[in-house]
Amino acid sequence: MRYLTAGESHGPQLTAILEGVPAGLELRAEHINKELARRQKGYGRGRRMQIEKDVVNITAGVRHGKTLGSPIALVVENRDFKHWQTIMAVEPIDDETEIKRKVTRPRPGHADLNGALKYGHRDMRNVLERSSARETTVRVAAGAVAKRILEEVGIRVAGHVIEIGGVRAKKLDYRSLEELQAVTEESPVRCFDPEAGQKMMEAIDLAKKNGDSIGGIVEVIVEGVPAGVGSYVHYDRKLDAKIAAAIVSINAFKGVEFGIGFEAARRPGSEVHDEIIWSPEQGFSRRTNRAGGFEGGVTTGMPIVVRGVMKPIPTLYKPLQSVDIDTKEPFAASIERSDSCAVPAASVVAEAVVAWEVAAAIVSQFGQDRIDLIKENIERARRYAKEF
Ligand SMILES: Cc1cc2nc3c(=O)[nH]c(=O)nc-3n(C[C@H](O)[C@H](O)[C@H](O)COP(=O)(O)O)c2cc1C
Repeated sequence: MRYLTAGESHGPQLTAILEGVPAGLELRAEHINKELARRQKGYGRGRRMQIEKDVVNITAGVRHGKTLGSPIALVVENRDFKHWQTIMAVEPIDDETEIKRKVTRPRPGHADLNGALKYGHRDMRNVLERSSARETTVRVAAGAVAKRILEEVGIRVAGHVIEIGGVRAKKLDYRSLEELQAVTEESPVRCFDPEAGQKMMEAIDLAKKNGDSIGGIVEVIVEGVPAGVGSYVHYDRKLDAKIAAAIVSINAFKGVEFGIGFEAARRPGSEVHDEIIWSPEQGFSRRTNRAGGFEGGVTTGMPIVVRGVMKPIPTLYKPLQSVDIDTKEPFAASIERSDSCAVPAASVVAEAVVAWEVAAAIVSQFGQDRIDLIKENIERARRYAKEF
């Protein structure tokens, strides 16, 4: 399974084409719309999220509520496009004022300057329109399709926020993933710990007041993946590596860890590795899950636990110094409309990209073409692991 996306932030629409989704999977627009709505929520988001309510239009690959096995095309309209028709026109324009409104002041921390140097753009709108995280809308849409596959085979995915602006949630103490999802869904910052959540909102308010931005850490947990998914035989078949790449591919994500992650550098091996146990009911299992569900790029059968760190958003109302690419004069970087903190929304994006990688691995390992056969094959693999 793979997907591509296209679309500019203020262009007419965003598009995703998903290839390799198995046939026979129930899929309706509402499955996707519910995830798009989750991405738009979150304390600290700017005005755009209030202007636009994202809805998907499925234009290919689905008939009578079921996938066909052919490429699936998903389209999300940018409702704000009506205000950008001249600036974002596909055809050449002769409106001098719009041409003059070009962006020449690169923002430190964004892709503006690098993109301009790379593609030779003198108007950095040509860069920022695509490097904007608006694109993550259709990645969430693709992730919603992946989640449908995972649901069918008994795999659950939940993303949540564990840190914002230096405020850290206390250690998770949830009884089930459903409980974690229910609580975080009600939190404006998607945090399981209400006290920390309150402090996170205060930190966001303060950042906003100061014209600044703050980052944080999100965690994604995947339960129900059988042991043996992924592979150790090639670098590009290691599932933990694919998930790590997917997390770092999210705009503003700068690091990733599994299980106890970087803490492993500070502990002896005896306090890092997970002891192996066996029982007739469960088969092989682990006493702990410090590895976060992977050994050798292959799932252990324990939950996948992956965290990603998001840097503060680069667009600041209190601008950092930059240099105008036309005049070469030092300048305070220009302000595009911006959020002060997008960590809660980013946890929904993280959930989506992880869901995609896990679903792609499941489909490639257990069947490919038909969801019913994938279900049978994965059940067989689960039974086999128990009896091994
Ligand atoms: C959900 C989400 C929303 C974002 N919103 C903004 C924003 O409003 N303004 C901004 O400057 N950057 C925002 N970003 C981050 C930029 O898109 C990102 O920093 C930029 O593309 C440069 O890429 P890099 O930070 O990965 O190097 C957002 C990121 C995510 C995941």
